[in-house]
Amino acid sequence: MNRLITLAARPEGMPKESDFRLEERPMPLPGGGEVLVQTLYLSVDPYMRGRLSGVTTYVPGLDLGEVIGGGVVGRVLESSDPRWSAGDIVEGMLGWQEYAVAPARSLRKIDPAAGPISSALYVLGMPGLTAYFGLLEICRPQPGETVVVSGAAGAVGSLVGQIARIKRCRAIGIAGSNEKVRFLIEELGFDGAFNYRETPDYAAKLKQLCPNGVDVYFDNVGGAITDAVMRHIASHARVAVCGQISQYNSVGPETGPRWLSQLVVRQAKVEGFLVTQFADRYEAGLHQLSTWLKEGRLQYREDVADGLENAPQAFIRMLEGKNIGKQLVKVAD
Ligand SMILES: NC(=O)c1ccc[n+]([C@@H]2O[C@H](COP(=O)([O-])OP(=O)(O)OC[C@H]3O[C@@H](n4cnc5c(N)ncnc54)[C@H](OP(=O)(O)O)[C@@H]3O)[C@@H](O)[C@H]2O)c1
Repeated sequence: MNRLITLAARPEGMPKESDFRLEERPMPLPGGGEVLVQTLYLSVDPYMRGRLSGVTTYVPGLDLGEVIGGGVVGRVLESSDPRWSAGDIVEGMLGWQEYAVAPARSLRKIDPAAGPISSALYVLGMPGLTAYFGLLEICRPQPGETVVVSGAAGAVGSLVGQIARIKRCRAIGIAGSNEKVRFLIEELGFDGAFNYRETPDYAAKLKQLCPNGVDVYFDNVGGAITDAVMRHIASHARVAVCGQISQYNSVGPETGPRWLSQLVVRQAKVEGFLVTQFADRYEAGLHQLSTWLKEGRLQYREDVADGLENAPQAFIRMLEGKNIGKQLVKVAD
């Protein structure tokens, strides 16, 4: 039998474990052009929150009873396609289940010699590419500029700050605990950071850390943090809107300070993006990220929960900000 996690109820606000159900179903059988994959690691990501509410963005919303979709690194067990053989390690959107059948063409080959296979869901996968293209293509940071990133100690944010440093910028992080602030400064080499949960006056802190203003803002969170950063942007600032996680569990629309006039005064640019818009350049992005990784210029931390049954809990703890680095779930060896 296959074990899998399905959507039991649409969450209201922060998801609860009871919104998910662990089920057993017969093992899937691969047909022509399909591959049977055993899940080794699965990824829990913020974008899944919208899917649970049935919202379709670049991925479709989920129906009740459907397997929770998401990125997986797994091992090929059976293949009817010449591209894949038993034992190959692959990455694909296979969902929260122990075994999955997928079209052969939908999978990406992972070289276990290139590094830990779990990095295909992090530095050498979707979050890495989001940080890479979002920062370099949307914000075009220049040496000496100040780059501020919110959600700084998470999967995307922790890489944004390090790539900013590689590009000889000052990297300032905003994150939700003192431990995260220490991680950013002592382990990742950020030039400054603050804990937004214990900082009463964001504006004063930003003024202290970014005396010449914020040239680049990589926004992962939105809300009050972004309101404060937007008040402190420098002339010709570039703002990449990557995500707005502070709103993902909101039950109603939020209003906030209106800062669009800042864009006029500062002649600044705000641009939202989806990593998928860079799909035709993923290979080049992965090549650069893996080079930096091998050179020791990118550090990363994984936060790994154990067992498929703990995937809902891992997802919730990520939304609550308990993860440092990338939240993953290990399903099998
Ligand atoms: N545009 C794209 O293509 C794309 C692709 C991937 C990800 N994203 C977006 O990028 C962002 C980061 O994703 P990720 O995978 O790297 O997740 P992550 O940062 O590893 O984990 C989520 C983090 O969000 C923070 N957070 C949660 N609630 C918050 C709130 N109310 N206010 C401020 N921070 C809050 C928490 O850290 P704290 O302790 O700091 O609060 C938590 O650790 C998300 O917004 C996601 O939707 C966008």
